[in-house]
Amino acid sequence: MLEISNLYKAFSLEAGFFAPVGRYVYAVNGVSFSMKRGEIFGLVGESGCGKTTTARLVVRTYPIDEGSIVFTDRNGRVFDIGTLDHKRLKLLRSKVKYIFQDPAKSLNPRMTILQVLTAGYRYQESWPGKRRAREEAAEMLREVGLSPDDLDRRPADFSGGQRQRISIARALITRPELLICDEVVSALDVSIQGQILQLLLRLREEYGFGMLFIAHDLAVVSYICDRIGVMYRGMLMETAPARRLIETPTHPYTKHLYTSVPQIDLQRKTTGGRITRFGEIPDPTVRPPGAGTALMQVAEEHYVSPLFSSV
Ligand SMILES: Nc1ncnc2c1ncn2[C@@H]1O[C@H](COP(=O)(O)OP(=O)(O)OP(=O)(O)O)[C@@H](O)[C@H]1O
Ligand SMILES: [Mg+2]
Repeated sequence: MLEISNLYKAFSLEAGFFAPVGRYVYAVNGVSFSMKRGEIFGLVGESGCGKTTTARLVVRTYPIDEGSIVFTDRNGRVFDIGTLDHKRLKLLRSKVKYIFQDPAKSLNPRMTILQVLTAGYRYQESWPGKRRAREEAAEMLREVGLSPDDLDRRPADFSGGQRQRISIARALITRPELLICDEVVSALDVSIQGQILQLLLRLREEYGFGMLFIAHDLAVVSYICDRIGVMYRGMLMETAPARRLIETPTHPYTKHLYTSVPQIDLQRKTTGGRITRFGEIPDPTVRPPGAGTALMQVAEEHYVSPLFSSV
């Protein structure tokens, strides 16, 4: 479904008195991974390691510097994200949906829930008509555990967890094939987090979409993901099926992450720890040496970077 090859993205910092030539923040440095249809792939790593930038490149929030991202839809249509024209990009964005961390910011407070949900149709090839759109929106609200009566209310009438349910309903209304979830439960209470994760898993069963799931919380990622990629300084250090990564972390950075968390509970009865610092604070304005080095296979579906490790 998704094939990311040797992806690079740097942001330019404005030139100033102390840096007359202008410098770059190297956010993504040679990332490659692929996702199967319906798979949940997690990206973990400390703040600033390039998770969001990688995900945003998939929906082309900004252009790709180098490398490629190719999305293939369920009808076999191929979207080469780096070269899409406006029309194809619009179509892509009905198939790949992005859900953000903070639904309070991403839901327009002046819109009714009906307007919020049906706005997604502007990415569709055809508008289903007013009545059909309302029926679909009502159905979607039911799917996420809210009431169709809520269609005429506004985002401010809802709690944080309910707003995240609305964001999910909004994303699903065009029946996407890939959902990008960027820290979608990070702002919620632990008890609500569990409910939202359960909801996403149930909806995935029902609709069959895949998820690119980004989170700081290793317990959350380990709970929901089929496979996990560990990022460090804009590079992938290790990818493996979730259980294997938890039981046999191999790259020193992954070991560091997983040993800094007291205990990963796959049933999610407890909350997990946060990521602590590995080595020196990385300077994002220096491209890390070894960027683009291929990972090495150590077991089935288990790949490890030779950088910073003896693998
Ligand atoms: N639009 C931008 N302009 C300039 N620098 C940016 C921009 N977006 C991200 N960066 C920088 O790129 C690097 C990677 O950021 P990114 O947001 O992808 O990290 P992240 O892994 O999502 O972090 P977090 O866990 O804090 O969300 C950081 O150094 C960040 O400051
Ligand atoms: Mg981020």
